Amino acid sequence: MSVETMARPVPLPQNGGAPASVTPCAFVLFGATGDLTRRKIVPALFDLDLQGLLPDPFVIIAFARRDKDDTTFREDLRAAVREFAPQLPTDGPEWQEFARHVFYLRSNLDDPEGYRRLAQRLQELDRTFGLGGNRLFYLATPPDNFDEVITHLGVAGLNRPGSEQGWARLIIEKPFGYDLNSARQLNALLAPVFAEHQVYRIDHYLGKEAVQNILVLRFANQIFEPLWNQKYIDNVQITVAETLGMEGRGAYFEKSGITRDIVQNHALQVLTLVAMEPPVSLAADHVRDEKVKVLKSIRPFTLEDVAQKTVRGQYGPGFIETPEGTRTVPGYREEQGVDPLSSTETFAAFRFDIQNWRWAGVPFYVQAGKRLPKRVTEVQIQFKAVPEVLFARLDCTGLRPNRLIIRIQPDEGAWIEIASKVPGPQLSIEMVRMDFRYGSTFNTPVRDAYQRLLLDAIRGDASLFARGDEVEAAWELLTPVLDAWQNLTCPIFPNYPAGTWGPPAVNSLLSGGRVWHIPQR
Ligand code: BG6
Repeated sequence: MSVETMARPVPLPQNGGAPASVTPCAFVLFGATGDLTRRKIVPALFDLDLQGLLPDPFVIIAFARRDKDDTTFREDLRAAVREFAPQLPTDGPEWQEFARHVFYLRSNLDDPEGYRRLAQRLQELDRTFGLGGNRLFYLATPPDNFDEVITHLGVAGLNRPGSEQGWARLIIEKPFGYDLNSARQLNALLAPVFAEHQVYRIDHYLGKEAVQNILVLRFANQIFEPLWNQKYIDNVQITVAETLGMEGRGAYFEKSGITRDIVQNHALQVLTLVAMEPPVSLAADHVRDEKVKVLKSIRPFTLEDVAQKTVRGQYGPGFIETPEGTRTVPGYREEQGVDPLSSTETFAAFRFDIQNWRWAGVPFYVQAGKRLPKRVTEVQIQFKAVPEVLFARLDCTGLRPNRLIIRIQPDEGAWIEIASKVPGPQLSIEMVRMDFRYGSTFNTPVRDAYQRLLLDAIRGDASLFARGDEVEAAWELLTPVLDAWQNLTCPIFPNYPAGTWGPPAVNSLLSGGRVWHIPQR
């Protein structure tokens, strides 16, 4: 029977049909033996459990191909938590209690019988644990498997909750599509099976504390919003820098490049939060409506724009600072799984022009790269200079325009740079910092982004997840750039040594005496 006839969106109200509260549920994990499960998902779930934040009862069912059973799988997960979250207690009763609710269902992802068994198992678990028919499916498989899992879930009727009052939701990992067409196809495949309010598209940057703080900083303080526009802001810069190279992901990265890996999702999410209008409310759709408007207001790239407003790079061999000292690292083309003549970009920089009332004339510069000198993500809001009267005329050379820096990681927080008189008999000015750090201010650890996102999906709050039209709008903007890069002459790669801030050409992107903000920490 076709998906169209079997699978119907569940007629639930907005927000997954439930108020933002945690109700018992089954968490069904596809891709359960993969890296993401081990590194992120299971440590996050166990930590949430330890904090008492998971619903009670909460059951995990792994759906995977490998030959395992409940016992061996539970041991695998314990080893993963020990490796990736060694601070969590895996020897005591807490782990035993958590593991008791973990089950393994062995099946190929393309076997309809496996999904029938899953449906049966869910019914049994509903009865045993009183899960109320609530189920959260998590697609943590490689994207090539998305189609078959979604289709089979629909055919098996698993897009519907197990009871009338229950709910069914689907979390999809990135990448959501490879370009505009594939993202549209994936949305079209989803639409007849899961309604939009059931779908939670992950962008883990949205789960980061300091990314969530952007809206608080902007809209819970009266002092910023009046200045947050083209009258007072000169330019905005977003830097997403990593020291990591490929770490065994060369084959994946060859097809992705930094633009698909970081810019289309994480960097553009940050940009929309910085640039959006105040939403009507904090409801998921109100926030997402405003983000989509920003993406749609960005001037589309013509071929000429691509040549002038984008820069791409690829790292060669170089040096990286590590806690153990300076380390020599190979160039991208020498990495495992990478074509020795590859033209994939490991660095990209863009100038985005948002054509709306608030931002006309204010460039938004974005740069992202692998093997840069520091792992740091920061947003710099550069204000305009004060009028050239009073202090600017004096010999007080330290005067510069104000800057607000939002530190997304590491050392989450924000600082603002303001002019101040240097103590003494002469009038001399220096720029000083007012600095806020999460760590020292709140004295509570900043948790991994996955914890917040998993919890939100469990409680039916989709505001930190990307909506279908939002993902498409981001692809609509960047697909022409990716296509143009295929047709334009490629720069001579490698064009930056590992451990440096990208190719020199990146400076040509900035005009009017502007310079890139180089994060110091
Ligand atoms: C992932 C990318 O989405 O984000 C990785 O696929 C990247 O290549 C990672 O390293 C960065 O995330 P974070 O949270 O470490 O900044």
